[in-house]
Formats: sequence, structure tokens, C-alpha cells
Amino acid sequence: MFITFEGIEGSGKTTQIRHAAEFLRRHGHPVVVTREPGSTDVGRRIRAILLDPAHRNLDHRAELLLYMADRAHHLGTVVQPAVAQGKIVLCDRYFDATLAYQGYARGLDIDLLKDLHRRVLDDYTPDLTLLLDLSPEEGLRRAWRQISAGEREAAETRFENEALRFHERVRAGYLDLARRAPERFRIIDAAADPETVGQAVRKILSAVLAPPAGSTA
Ligand code: TMP
Repeated sequence: MFITFEGIEGSGKTTQIRHAAEFLRRHGHPVVVTREPGSTDVGRRIRAILLDPAHRNLDHRAELLLYMADRAHHLGTVVQPAVAQGKIVLCDRYFDATLAYQGYARGLDIDLLKDLHRRVLDDYTPDLTLLLDLSPEEGLRRAWRQISAGEREAAETRFENEALRFHERVRAGYLDLARRAPERFRIIDAAADPETVGQAVRKILSAVLAPPAGSTA
């Protein structure tokens, strides 16, 4: 099973994925935790290019293709092999991030993005997507606090440096995507404290992973 976590900067995805993985492992599930961009040797080099604040002027189309290159390699070498072995893959960001950031926020043609995803990645889609929804004011406040405290990489702040308006478009994009695919998305209020958010995550995961009613498993 392939489960993705999405949300703006500072929405708490990384913490929640860690707790979700512990919860699932405690219940006997084999879990792989991964993220985009940057989960492979090649991906780490792509991530460094993408998030370096010095690359302020990176062409938006180049940015898109770098995310896709990272994703193609990540899917082929990490995600799909693990799913094929029956593992639960928890992934911090995936194609919805491309739609929200490069599509809704940067303004690249959404149909082009979907077309590329279909042609290059066979439209490979998560079974479940948890959207941690938060206001950009609060998300950026949290993200910069973590950067000052050394808990986040100061060398990776190209997106944190974007204007508030940009992050508002990302958030609105995610909410629109969730509205259009309610069978796949679950929206979680990420403004609550981490324990409350964690409870909401666990409730959703338990419901999705529970054996269907009437099954003898
Ligand atoms: P993060 O790993 O700290 O969440 O940083 C990844 C950054 O890359 C984040 O600002 C969102 C951005 N991003 C995109 O713009 N498009 C994508 O397809 C992905 C996966 C991430």
C-alpha cells in the first residue's frame, strides 16, 4: 500500500510520518518511510539543487523536470519494489506536491503536469493521501523557528523564501485537489497540537487498514 502525506511548509508531515510508522510497526505492519525529493543517492543531489536558496532564478520548467526526475528514480528503485513486497510505504510528498507547487502556485499548466505523470509514470497514484492543512502564516512561522533552532536545513530554504501569497496558492491547490478526489484524500487540521494530530492520523490509518467487515481475517 502506498500512502502519502502532503501539506505546506511547517505542517508537521515529517513528525507525523515518524509517529505513524511507529504505530504501524507496533501493529505488525512492515513499513518503509521515504520522501520526495531526495530519498536516493541521485535524488539527494537533485534535492540539493532544488532547495538551494541561491537558485532563486531556477526556470519553473526546469524545476518541474527535476522533481519528475527525482520521482521517476524514487518510484522505480524504492516505492514500487517495496509495495510489490507487500510493505506499507509512507511517503512525505508526491505528485500532489507537483500539482500544488508547480501547478497551482507557479502557474504551470495542470494538464501538462498530469499528462507527464501519465506518460512517464503510468499515472501511479497513492492508495491514500493525508493532507495536513494549516494556514501559511502558522506554517511559515513554525518552519522558520525550526530553521533557527537548527532542526531544519538552512541550506534548503528556497521555498520558505517565497512570499506568503505563494504558500496561500499552494494551500488552496491542495484543498482543491482533496475536494476533487475525496475517495483518496483525508484532510487533517494541522493547527492542533502534535498529539491531537497524531490521534487523527492513527484513526484514519486504523480504518483504512482494518479488515473489511464480515471478513474472517
Ligand atoms: P520538504 O522535504 O522540506 O518538504 O521540502 C521539499 C520542498 O519541495 C517543499 O518546499 C515543496 C517542494 N516540492 C515541490 O515544489 N514539488 C514537488 O513535486 C515536491 C515533491 C516538493
